[in-house]
Amino acid sequence: MLRIAVLVSGGGSNLQAILDAIDSGKLDSVMVELVISSNREAYALKRAENRGIPTMVIDGRDWPGPRERDGRLLEVLDELNPDLIVLAGYMKILPKSIVGRFPRRIINIHPSLIPKFCGEGFYGMRVHRAVLESGEQVSGATVHYVDEGVDTGEILLQEQVPVLREDTPESLAARVLETEHRILPEVLSKLSREIK
Ligand code: GRF
Repeated sequence: MLRIAVLVSGGGSNLQAILDAIDSGKLDSVMVELVISSNREAYALKRAENRGIPTMVIDGRDWPGPRERDGRLLEVLDELNPDLIVLAGYMKILPKSIVGRFPRRIINIHPSLIPKFCGEGFYGMRVHRAVLESGEQVSGATVHYVDEGVDTGEILLQEQVPVLREDTPESLAARVLETEHRILPEVLSKLSREIK
């Protein structure tokens, strides 16, 4: 059984995709042990609570600074020692202390075809706006290992998504999100066969 911790910050639709895949039996060798949110108002917390999954909030607003907040996050992850940490809509950059503690055991889902439209400042709608402004014909989603850089880790899976002439950042985001919801559980299924 692959024991995972899922880090979230917002709506939690990627978390929901994992939970739905587990419930449908597609991810029967993965267990979500804890959901940690960087945002106390994240709807992702509700999704976890509805499913009886333990949750924790480590919100920067409750800590003197990022160092203390990240120190607590490392403490919690160290204690839990999950097989895999999944960043699912997590909006913070993990410190080297955490990335170094879990080499090749942290994955992230990014809403573009890395190495395009990623790195510092490329998150959420900014990604899709940049894709449309660039005139790209295709975009997509990428699941990758998290290393010391931003969106620079080894790519595990990518899937293309067409960019339509009439697309807005919102319509492109919605199409990419559908792909995210498919490839993240797919990577977890593959890793659950490899890691355990
Ligand atoms: C998604 O676009 C994901 O790629 C990015 O955060 C956004 C929201 O994800 N990392 P979720 O609905 O909170 O899972």
